[in-house]
Amino acid sequence: QIDPCTLVLFGASGNLSRVKLMPGLFRLDAAGRLPAEMKILSVGRGEVSREAWLADIKGMLDAKFKKGYDQQVFERFIERNFYHANPPTDPNAFQRMKETLSNDKVFPQNLAYFLSVRPSDFAPVVDQLAAVDLLNEENYWRRVVIEKPFGTDLPSAKALQASITKHLKESQIYRIDHYLGKSALQNIMLQRFANTLLEPIWNKDYIDHVQITNTEMLGVGDRTQFYDATGALRDMIQSHILQTLALTAMEMPAALTPEGIRAEKIKVLEAIRAIPVDQLDKHAFRAQYAAGEVNGEQVPGYLEELGDSSSVVETYAALKLFIDNPRWEGVPFYIRTAKRLHEADTRISIRFKKSPLQIGDGQDQNWLMLGIQPRECIKMEIQSKIPGLDINTRTIQLDAANRQDGDESIDAYEALLLNLMEGDNSLYLHISEVEAQWRLVDPVIEAWAKDRQPVHQYPAGSRDPEASKVIFEHEDQFWRYSI
Ligand code: BG6
Repeated sequence: QIDPCTLVLFGASGNLSRVKLMPGLFRLDAAGRLPAEMKILSVGRGEVSREAWLADIKGMLDAKFKKGYDQQVFERFIERNFYHANPPTDPNAFQRMKETLSNDKVFPQNLAYFLSVRPSDFAPVVDQLAAVDLLNEENYWRRVVIEKPFGTDLPSAKALQASITKHLKESQIYRIDHYLGKSALQNIMLQRFANTLLEPIWNKDYIDHVQITNTEMLGVGDRTQFYDATGALRDMIQSHILQTLALTAMEMPAALTPEGIRAEKIKVLEAIRAIPVDQLDKHAFRAQYAAGEVNGEQVPGYLEELGDSSSVVETYAALKLFIDNPRWEGVPFYIRTAKRLHEADTRISIRFKKSPLQIGDGQDQNWLMLGIQPRECIKMEIQSKIPGLDINTRTIQLDAANRQDGDESIDAYEALLLNLMEGDNSLYLHISEVEAQWRLVDPVIEAWAKDRQPVHQYPAGSRDPEASKVIFEHEDQFWRYSI
């Protein structure tokens, strides 16, 4: 049940809004999930008329839904949309916005603010909203979504938290990690705990190591400035990949309630051993893509795209982590992310220990893989006899798609936007998770910023750089690909 509300979208002309938020809201509207009265007030720096803004939205939808969309839904969606110019030079911009919003014939007074702005603007925008009394929940609810990254390191995350909690209660704060909105990520937990077949072997007695992979074929695109201030470790590992790891490694919650799940995630994140900076070479690896070929097309290297040959910012980052608890003692977790690798693949790959029975030349070890994207699936590699007279085995694969025809397909941002309007922040991050994640990556970021480790190069479209293998504990370990 969603109350009539107004979504105030800061940074509405930015990439996230164009590609995810506006199309996502449109799809929710098409699915009949938005309350009839709901309105969207887009806030941007430029002076743009409503007509021009509506034409811009049409362009966003045309670009996203190439096969077309329902005209009736379009008319309805367009009616919901308004624009407010908020030039940084105008000291009265927020007061004017308040006046616009106070027209309760148009705008429902429950307000959700989505801050898709530069991270340095999160705290100032919240201050400004508070200054014009737009966060006061006396008669209506007021919620604020903070996009990632929440801070750029632990001290700045704490400072941001201190700043926004001057004006907001925890129940009003929605810290985004859009991976938590992915159904495939929620499935990790269900596949683990709903299967008697899996949970008993999900530990150090049976598992050799775990790999959590997120590789993309895309490059940094037009986000070079943002990316060069961020890098792969901050962009993906501090957030999405550590959350994936938490869901893979956490203990079973007493109940699958939001609080129960969060508490277990926090515990496991806090049990990850600090990365020893004096042995960084064995635990962390970074690299940058050079020019190369992706899908048969020549693409430039990162430094060329950036136009600055001095950058050491990584587009590939890999870490080896250990979790100091009884379940995972001694089991390496290899996590990695990369732009411009040979395949786009997000998955959890688990390699099991050797069987005590060695047949013939020795057989491969079992793998279990949970595919997150592009394909949601579960795959298992097991050893089976090669038919014939000899006693020998080969690997066969069990492969089941998780999606079936007719299943609802809801994008992560759509799910999170719905939760926001419903007042459910359980798929958003708790500050303790954000802090534990920064605590873990900060020493590596700091060492890399001081150039304490070389930056390797890999051609766009290639596999992992050979040198990345230094982080493996054993010589027989290797990066697992989708096939
Ligand atoms: C974002 C990162 O948070 O996640 C991007 O900033 C990355 O660099 C994106 O491409 C990946 O998201 P998804 O949902 O496409 O896997």
